[in-house]
Amino acid sequence: MKSSLLIANWKMYKTVEESASFARLLTERLRGWWNPEEVGLVVAPTAVAIFKLAQSLADGGVQLAAQNMDLGTEGAFTGALSAYLLHEAGARLVILGHSERRRYFAETDALVAEKVEAAWHAGLTPVVCIGETESERDRGETQTVLDRQLAAILKKPLGSSHPLIIAYEPVWAIGTGRVAQNQDVGQLAHLIRRWLDQVQAPAAVPILYGGSVNPENLAGFLSLDDVDGALIGGASLSLDHVVSMVKVAMGARQTDTSIAKG
Ligand code: 13P
Repeated sequence: MKSSLLIANWKMYKTVEESASFARLLTERLRGWWNPEEVGLVVAPTAVAIFKLAQSLADGGVQLAAQNMDLGTEGAFTGALSAYLLHEAGARLVILGHSERRRYFAETDALVAEKVEAAWHAGLTPVVCIGETESERDRGETQTVLDRQLAAILKKPLGSSHPLIIAYEPVWAIGTGRVAQNQDVGQLAHLIRRWLDQVQAPAAVPILYGGSVNPENLAGFLSLDDVDGALIGGASLSLDHVVSMVKVAMGARQTDTSIAKG
């Protein structure tokens, strides 16, 4: 039986106050029916909001992720945020290698791999984003791109001190309203699962789909064997949408349980 994980990536949206009020309302709206053991929920606000949200979300079961981090522990690195600082502020996960970081901030596979190690060192769970661009897809290179991106981070057997989440986010589906076909996502998630098996990753490594996910299309992705959840951008900025998506995920799990029992 699968548990699901939803991660809300707010990107560079919402002020600290807006984030805090969203978190308060979210906690209220989830109270009484949401079970975080069945459907994990993570919010990735801007870095400046993490500390405040950690206080408002304490004990509520919603976890916090950073959207990026820099290498190093401390030192003369103006403007940098280490994994340790993010952990101290309240983040327990960190999104790494997002296509926007790769594209606008020139992040390479090698840098992403270094950040993954640094995240583990500080006790953060990396959520590593992989995915092909539209032109790579058109050239039939999707699998080659995913292989390259996965090879960079999966170089050795993963132990229990290497918690990991992989998010497959086709770049052409991000913020465009164009979603990948369920069948394609299913096949690529299976490819990712095979990679994880090769490095003996614990079965608990969740594989997420990201790219124009919303309350209407979420159930389709969650029904796929190797997909355990979603990384959501635009739709996660709306409280109603987040609450709806948690409901969809809870419902998908119940359907799963009844299939398993039947
Ligand atoms: P959208 O859901 O807005 O397409 O964004 C996806 C994403 O980039 C999440 O990290």
